Amino acid sequence: MCGIVGFTGRRAAEPILLAGLRRLEYRGYDSAGVATIDSESRLVVRKRAGRVAALEELLSQSPAAGECGISHTRWATHGPANDLNAHPHIGGAGRVAVAHNGVIENHAQLRDELTRLGYVFQSQTDTEVIAHLIAQELKKDLDLFSAVRAILPRLEGTYGLAVVAPCEPGVLIGARMGSPLVVGLGDGEHFLASDSSAIAPHTQSVAYLQDGEVVRLTADEFNLEHLERGSIVPRVDRIDWKPDDRELGGVPHYMLKEIYEQPNTVRDACRGRIRRGEATAQFGGLNLTAAKLRRVRRIVFAACGTSLHAAKIGEYLIERCARIPVEVEYAGEFRYSNAPLDDRTLVFVLSQSGETADTLGALREARRRGHPTLAIVNTVGSTIAREADGGIYLHAGTEIGVAGTKSFAAQVVVLSLLAIYLGRLRHMSFTAGLEAIDAIESAPEPLQKTLAIEPLVVAAAERIANSKSVLFLGRDVHHPVALEGALKLKEISYIHAEGYPASEMKHGPIALVDPETPCVVVAPRGPLHAKTMSNIEELKARRGVIVAVGTEGDRELERRADVFLPIPDVPEIIQPLVAVVPLQLLAYHVALLLGRDIDKPRNLAKSVTVE
Ligand code: M6R
Repeated sequence: MCGIVGFTGRRAAEPILLAGLRRLEYRGYDSAGVATIDSESRLVVRKRAGRVAALEELLSQSPAAGECGISHTRWATHGPANDLNAHPHIGGAGRVAVAHNGVIENHAQLRDELTRLGYVFQSQTDTEVIAHLIAQELKKDLDLFSAVRAILPRLEGTYGLAVVAPCEPGVLIGARMGSPLVVGLGDGEHFLASDSSAIAPHTQSVAYLQDGEVVRLTADEFNLEHLERGSIVPRVDRIDWKPDDRELGGVPHYMLKEIYEQPNTVRDACRGRIRRGEATAQFGGLNLTAAKLRRVRRIVFAACGTSLHAAKIGEYLIERCARIPVEVEYAGEFRYSNAPLDDRTLVFVLSQSGETADTLGALREARRRGHPTLAIVNTVGSTIAREADGGIYLHAGTEIGVAGTKSFAAQVVVLSLLAIYLGRLRHMSFTAGLEAIDAIESAPEPLQKTLAIEPLVVAAAERIANSKSVLFLGRDVHHPVALEGALKLKEISYIHAEGYPASEMKHGPIALVDPETPCVVVAPRGPLHAKTMSNIEELKARRGVIVAVGTEGDRELERRADVFLPIPDVPEIIQPLVAVVPLQLLAYHVALLLGRDIDKPRNLAKSVTVE
């Protein structure tokens, strides 16, 4: 989603800002811009709709000189993606430039008020009001920091802000309310970013801003204040950064690279978490004793998108292994639903990015109601990770493709281990615990084998690529796998796709079945296999085209399917982990055939920081 990068120091800002924006590109955006203060204290602004490459092209013709500046990638909320709506926005005819992440909910009233004062708006964005409000304060002879501080209480909604002004060259202001912002501490220079990965190549010393904090940075100074509590001493953390984290290494897309990383993802998610001698799992950061966990009567998972589908798999596994009732809630609904939760309900949120606004909102709502909140998160140091009372990191490494793949695998592994841990605190036997652990630890091998069926998936993709709509079906724990397959396909190929329990077909969706609407059926061998086979017959009777994901050697399924995608015969607990791989590859190859922008699909963002 929107990204911010700011810099102040003693070297050219433009290359640092551009490189930072490039590192944020994976988050999804539709325009980009920079604003710098040049050596003659003039404000230089360059903006372009489209990719950072278009901005780079513009800058190659008209550079933005200066050693202090801000930059932004915008994901349109108010007003379409065009040059005028791109950030930074200018206030008071060149007095100040502002880059903003978040949404200002009272922008319409502020716009009316500023229009009455004579301000002329150039854009349709909510952000431009911030720029004019600051300009109005600067007219009163306030310094830039005081001017920003003065207007913040007037903003309703969320913001991460970066501000520069020609009246104070070398000064960079940042402010946070609900939208992440981090300061990077360099040697005689400071950075500001919405995501530490944007500045990680320059410094690994960072200070995360909290809501209500405002920062003033120059090359040598770092002053932090809270809007109500005044001056604060910043807490500096170190981030992990490996220079090769983002190399494609010859693979054409990050999504494909990340699909292929999954055997390792499983190993990393298991590392240090298995206590074989006791046939259970362990988690360092849960911050809840076994005694407290034994008292839990109900678990609520709140998440969005792919994380929600992983949670649904967790629901099946925990109910099976630990017999604790689990409910999975859309995070964006949970926070407003006022669902009854008793004091023995444990609330988990799941998020790859750790920044999803809906999921963060769910976490805060659960905490407000006095529940211990736990998070299953990939991004270390993200807002959700920092705000939760305890949690589990996925250790999946940076995921760059907008379509989540390896993070899903890591979530499913963590949830499987959690199911075993909770089960072993109750009635799961030593033998059952050990069998489940063995299965999870052995998963990298069948995953590797499944990746090898890619050529067969290409053939399936050819059957699907011209369809207008595709149905994904599965029973039991394979229903969430089907949902995930449908989400992957629609996200990156833009083909309409829906996931259903195979049993539900006859209650309505079967009306859609015809030779032009392929059905992808997830049907590995298991207790409900015969039922799924009957559902396949029902589809075939309506001339449905069947792409089946099934256990290798399942001749009956192979005979009935138009395309058969075999996966190894694995224990039930790891079937979802393995069965999802052909669906990820299927979405990838359909999108490839259709020439889609696979890693940056239209309209989508990697981390969705607005409600
Ligand atoms: O970072 P999160 O796991 O909180 O993100 C949740 C969803 O926005 C995300 O899973 C989205 O659905 C992905 N694009 C899935 O591929």
